[in-house]
Amino acid sequence: MKFFGRVAARSAAARSGGSARLHVGCGSEAIAGWVNIDSRPLPGVDRVLDVTSGLPFENVAAIYAEHFLEHLAFDDGLAFLAECRRALREDGVLRLSTPNLDWVYLTHYQIGKWSEDDESLRDCFQLNRAFHGWGHRFLYNAPSLAAVLRASGFANVRFQRYGESDVAELRGLERHETWEDTPELPHVIIAEATGRAESRPLPAKFLDPFREATAIR
Ligand SMILES: C[S@@+](CC[C@H](N)C(=O)[O-])C[C@H]1O[C@@H](n2cnc3c(N)ncnc32)[C@H](O)[C@@H]1O
Repeated sequence: MKFFGRVAARSAAARSGGSARLHVGCGSEAIAGWVNIDSRPLPGVDRVLDVTSGLPFENVAAIYAEHFLEHLAFDDGLAFLAECRRALREDGVLRLSTPNLDWVYLTHYQIGKWSEDDESLRDCFQLNRAFHGWGHRFLYNAPSLAAVLRASGFANVRFQRYGESDVAELRGLERHETWEDTPELPHVIIAEATGRAESRPLPAKFLDPFREATAIR
């Protein structure tokens, strides 16, 4: 996990926040009126930054990241969320959209329903693709996403539907197409996190063995 406490890295850019809205990991989907951030200098990117080294902003009004968090290793994700909390102003809001592990599990690996060997082979590859493809590092279900947000110092977590929000500027932001979604089983989890609270760490009995095992290469 990289260290986020390097105040020097923030410098003058740190004070460019104010009412800024950050769109992190924007890829090629820049949003007008937002500061579009990506580690790659793609068209529409306003700031080329590796956000695992920190977010050089303060007092921002909103942070949005679609299909981004799952691209960070677990501890980098945790540190990124804590950095979002730090960079947001007190009434700021973080909105995340990330693949839904429940949906992946239930739609990609239909054990017991295989009528031919070919189907078990298909599911083996598609489940592994979901975990390892496209640069994915960690997939969340709704409770684990809420838990990492609370561990990162957010007080409130609210799940939203695709494109919907109580906050006007967060409506209609999602770009990824909905795919085999039902209201009970959406393929993405969309969470909005607000407020500030003391960190509620995740249970060590789950984290420690995970960290130990994933450290082995
Ligand atoms: C799957 S793409 C999503 C792009 C866009 N948000 C979308 O929904 O189509 C993930 C993006 O995150 C960017 N990214 C990955 N790690 C990053 C990092 N550490 N800092 C900044 N951007 C990063 C990648 O370059 C990529 O454009």
